[in-house]
Amino acid sequence: MLRVGVMVSGGGTNLQAILDAVEEGRITNVEIEVVISNNPGAYALERAKNHGIEAVCMSPKDYETRDDFNRAFLEKVDEYHLDLIVLAGFLVKIPEAMVEKYEHRIINIHPSLIPSFCGVGYYGLKVHEAALARGVKVTGATVHYVDGGMDTGPIILQKAVEVQENDTPELLQRRVMEQAEWVILPKAIDMIANGMV
Ligand code: GAR
Repeated sequence: MLRVGVMVSGGGTNLQAILDAVEEGRITNVEIEVVISNNPGAYALERAKNHGIEAVCMSPKDYETRDDFNRAFLEKVDEYHLDLIVLAGFLVKIPEAMVEKYEHRIINIHPSLIPSFCGVGYYGLKVHEAALARGVKVTGATVHYVDGGMDTGPIILQKAVEVQENDTPELLQRRVMEQAEWVILPKAIDMIANGMV
């Protein structure tokens, strides 16, 4: 059984897709040990509790310095002896020490086809605003390993989604979630858990 921790910051629809896939047997050999959020108001924490999963909140705002938070965050994560950390809409930069310690054990979902619309400043709705502003006809989502850079690690899965005329950032975000993110994130976790990556 792969011991998995999921990091979230917001609504947690990607977390929900993972929980549903585990329950429906589309992800096997996985135990979700903990869900950690930096945001006490994140609905994702409720989703975790509804499934009987430990839900932890750790906010950088509760620490005097970023280094203090980074140390405490790594200590907390270490407590769960995780084989895989899934960043499912986690908007905090992973501390360097954690990236090193958990090399090849952290994956992230990003709502574009990397290397387009990624890196510093591209998160959430901003990604889709930028895609529409550039006028691309195809966008999508990417699951990748996390390395020391921002959205630069090795790509595991990608799925394309068509942009439609009259799309708003919100409409496009929803379509990318439904057609790509909620499909490839559970799939990547299942592949890792079953030695297929
Ligand atoms: C998702 O679209 C995810 O790809 C994105 O945040 C959203 C979280 O939604 N992540 C990033 O932009 C990371 N750079 P959710 O909380 O409903 O899963």
